[in-house]
Amino acid sequence: MGFDVTAIRKDFPILGRTLKNGKPLVYLDNAATSQTPQPVIDVIVDYYSRYNANIHRGVHQLSQEATDAYEQARQKIQKHLNIAHAHEVIFTAGTTHSINIVAAGFGQILQPGDELIVSALEHHANIVPWQMACERSGAVLRVIPMTPQGTLDLDAYEALLNDRTRLVFVNHVSNALGSINDIERIIHQAHAVRAAVLIDGAQAAPHLVADVQALDVDFYTLSAHKICGPTGVGMLYGKEKWLNLLPPYQGGGEMIATVSFEKTTYADLPHKFEAGTPNICGGIAFGAAVDYMNSIGFEQIAAYEHQLLLRATEGLKSIEGLTIYGDHDHKTAVISFNLAGVHPYDVGSILDQLGIAVRTGHHCAQPIMTYYNIPGTVRASFSFYNTFEEVDALIAGVKKAQQMLC
Ligand code: ALA
Repeated sequence: MGFDVTAIRKDFPILGRTLKNGKPLVYLDNAATSQTPQPVIDVIVDYYSRYNANIHRGVHQLSQEATDAYEQARQKIQKHLNIAHAHEVIFTAGTTHSINIVAAGFGQILQPGDELIVSALEHHANIVPWQMACERSGAVLRVIPMTPQGTLDLDAYEALLNDRTRLVFVNHVSNALGSINDIERIIHQAHAVRAAVLIDGAQAAPHLVADVQALDVDFYTLSAHKICGPTGVGMLYGKEKWLNLLPPYQGGGEMIATVSFEKTTYADLPHKFEAGTPNICGGIAFGAAVDYMNSIGFEQIAAYEHQLLLRATEGLKSIEGLTIYGDHDHKTAVISFNLAGVHPYDVGSILDQLGIAVRTGHHCAQPIMTYYNIPGTVRASFSFYNTFEEVDALIAGVKKAQQMLC
């Protein structure tokens, strides 16, 4: 089956939208959130139309149907990432929540003087929870430096590792630059000093599939809304031994085995980390989104998006005074750039007037902006449903912005 972007676009009702100014939508903010295809919308409507009920609690038919669909979604995610056990998949509210679960847990068991390693390319969600864990425990945070190309200096990383290193946390793909990090090497070298590794997979998930057992990674996180699912739901993968070791993040219903005023015991995995009524519909739709992405095929997605990236990079580079940050060939279809002497917000505003949606600012990755000594960038992020015409519209839009602003 060939890759038919025209047919794919028909799955996404929003892509046919006309904006207030009469311009057709050109949606290039996919790293912030992806759009939702009709098969996933249908699953959401079906849930609320036919079997909305609480899970794991009721003897009645609706509750059983909802429970089955939710647990089937867990198994779809398990299979997608080649996870050994379904109970190693914890449903969360998204990657930020997933990382907070792990960081808060380690914050209780780390010792003063323990060392944690983060990278300079992280989203704030993979920095701040660890700073909080360090404040609580007295552990020390070390930083893998970045290079001018927007990659990680892995020789410097190697030099940071030592027998006090307990944990390393790095994104698979940088949200601000699109750089794909060499997580195989990062994991291998961390394990050589017996440190655990958490990989933030939020920005990798739309473009490539991680095999957590082949990677031998200790924790891996995803957000459903980056892969055509709904917002407010995601997952934490953790190796069983780590999830058993870590204390629960929240107390409440569902996460207990027994409760008395003298002592509470906790439920087995995954329920120990799933207190309260979860985002049931979101979890089921997350499973549907995984199915949808796989029906398109990740190899086809990556190959097509790479062509979009090449065209956009070539076109933007032809604009005098335009700088691309993280311009190298091991990246996903994300381009962060600035026009000389122009604030990124102004470029984004003119693109918006042309119907082109991009993100501007620091992209929740302020250390990267500090490194480049810039207030932020304009970020165009492409998905498999974007077209070459949309890439050309971006390039023409940036040229127009330059004429108007320079
Ligand atoms: N983390 C999302 C982004 O990079 C919101 O835009």
